[in-house]
Amino acid sequence: MNPPPNAGSAATPRALAAPLPVPLGYPVYCAAGVLAHVGDIVRTVAPSHRVAIISDDTVAAHHAATLRAQCPAGATQLFTMPPGEQEKTRERWAQLTDALIAWGAGRDTTIIALGGGVVGDLAGFVAATFMRGLPVVQVPTTLLAMVDASVGGKTAVDTPAGKNLVGAFHNPAAVVIDPAVLGTLPAPILRSGLAEMLKHGIIADASYFDQILLALPDILSQGAAAPGFAQLIAGSVHIKADVVAEDTREGGLRQILNFGHTIAHAIEKVQRYDMLHGDAVAMGMIAEARLAECIGLAGPGLARSVRDAVQRAGLPVALPTGIDIDAVLAETHGDKKARGGAARYALPRGIGEMEPAEGRWAVPVDDVVVKTVLGELKGS
Ligand code: GLY
Repeated sequence: MNPPPNAGSAATPRALAAPLPVPLGYPVYCAAGVLAHVGDIVRTVAPSHRVAIISDDTVAAHHAATLRAQCPAGATQLFTMPPGEQEKTRERWAQLTDALIAWGAGRDTTIIALGGGVVGDLAGFVAATFMRGLPVVQVPTTLLAMVDASVGGKTAVDTPAGKNLVGAFHNPAAVVIDPAVLGTLPAPILRSGLAEMLKHGIIADASYFDQILLALPDILSQGAAAPGFAQLIAGSVHIKADVVAEDTREGGLRQILNFGHTIAHAIEKVQRYDMLHGDAVAMGMIAEARLAECIGLAGPGLARSVRDAVQRAGLPVALPTGIDIDAVLAETHGDKKARGGAARYALPRGIGEMEPAEGRWAVPVDDVVVKTVLGELKGS
């Protein structure tokens, strides 16, 4: 059941920290306690008569009241759905859209996407399409959504044929990252986000990669309360923002953000999405680093470094037991980077450096090589 309007209490107001200096054209706030300023931020970046908060039941129970208390009384509505990737469908998009229409939403409405990647992608897609586009403020509540999904304007739903196959680029009006909300996140979900942070180091910044490695013991023992964790999140946002600013619509450079993901998406599909995205990305990064070695792009030792980092983060280093490698290989051909049915990979030359491939930022790799590498990664 929805909480009553203006229920709950915002945290003691603190001064709103400056947004991160990222070149995106919309502000990205990243500071503990900034959840108490979402109302002010919405009034500044997307002033509107109505506010629709879209969330899932789990996240809403923790944080929706805090947001509602800051939004216009009587003109704010909470729309929730069950948690989980299985909700990121055209059917749920239609149901939310119909609910917005029934409530009376119009061009005078701002959407707040409160949740992890599923909520952010789905609410973003509702915003992108509702009356040809409403402003959306992304308020990510998982580490993975903070460092990846909330920034960059990708919105989508899944179809039975694959993830994110229907969607739109729709930049948020603002992104509001409050690392304090990660205190309620289960440890495996936090670890899942660490995979994307490691990825950012591998694709763009060796010293950031080293900083994460140094911080991992504290992160694993103290979770989001680890010293300097907010700065590490901000570091990831900076790396992603720099890439996205240069190539918003993924014509070239942005594909480096897909490092590890061609194989990760294939594994997830074969496992029917019954696994954490970060776990799949961890395996995918080891496999794709090894591909880079096998085709001579990277020197020996890269895959070992990636594997070591993945292991130190408590993420899986072997493929799920019993997985059908031929099925994984077949799924790589459905990747969005594939051309003419041939899979292409965004591959590192070393930690912090990606292969430009003459501006294409993705290289074809023979199936025989991919199959051999997947075989090496197979668990018992
Ligand atoms: N998650 C990859 C991207 O935003 O391009």
